[in-house]
Amino acid sequence: MKRKRVGVLISGRGSNMAALVEAAQDPAYPAEIVCVVSNRPDAAGLKFAQGRNISTHVIDHKSYATREAFDAALNDYLQSQKLDLIACAGFMRVMTSVLLEPWAGKMINIHPSLLPLYKGTHAHERALADGVKVHGCSVHYVTDELDGGPVIARAEVPVLPGDTPETLAARVLVEEHKLYPKALAMAATMEFNPNSSSFRRKPESSKSN
Ligand code: GRF
Repeated sequence: MKRKRVGVLISGRGSNMAALVEAAQDPAYPAEIVCVVSNRPDAAGLKFAQGRNISTHVIDHKSYATREAFDAALNDYLQSQKLDLIACAGFMRVMTSVLLEPWAGKMINIHPSLLPLYKGTHAHERALADGVKVHGCSVHYVTDELDGGPVIARAEVPVLPGDTPETLAARVLVEEHKLYPKALAMAATMEFNPNSSSFRRKPESSKSN
């Protein structure tokens, strides 16, 4: 089996990246983590990756005048690594087509909600405010719709009486660490067609405001 070459994008703690690195220790896992890239020089996850002898790279978004210029620099680096897949793990950047188009069908992300519910930020707060009894996490392909690409896998988590955003986030994170390695393995063993309708840009008239 030829393992898929995966780069992981982070911005901070990197606990999901660490879960992927741990899973990929198994030679039977269908992917290897070849590099970890952060847009923040102080991202704690970089140290973990260095401790595992994984190549790390920082591309500081503050050094670029536009999102497109940052995305072009990031794309150049990712292309140089000859990657098959990219896994976003707490990567806190809105991406432009400069990055999205070359990696269509090859970039996945983990989001702390049961998509399509609670796209965007503050998912736990919004779930609690709505009084939902079940929350969770999802891994999906990245498209130009924020947290809106095709879902690969989801895991449910109960909402308990007295939960705060912090207690709920901690319970969801435990499941994220199990779900992401499973979903990456799925992505590494199936070809996704970026020309399918899910990846096509929506016509302007069908876009909501
Ligand atoms: C996770 O909750 C992930 O779902 C979200 O950002 C958080 C990142 O945590 N996208 P970590 O950096 O992986 O620890």
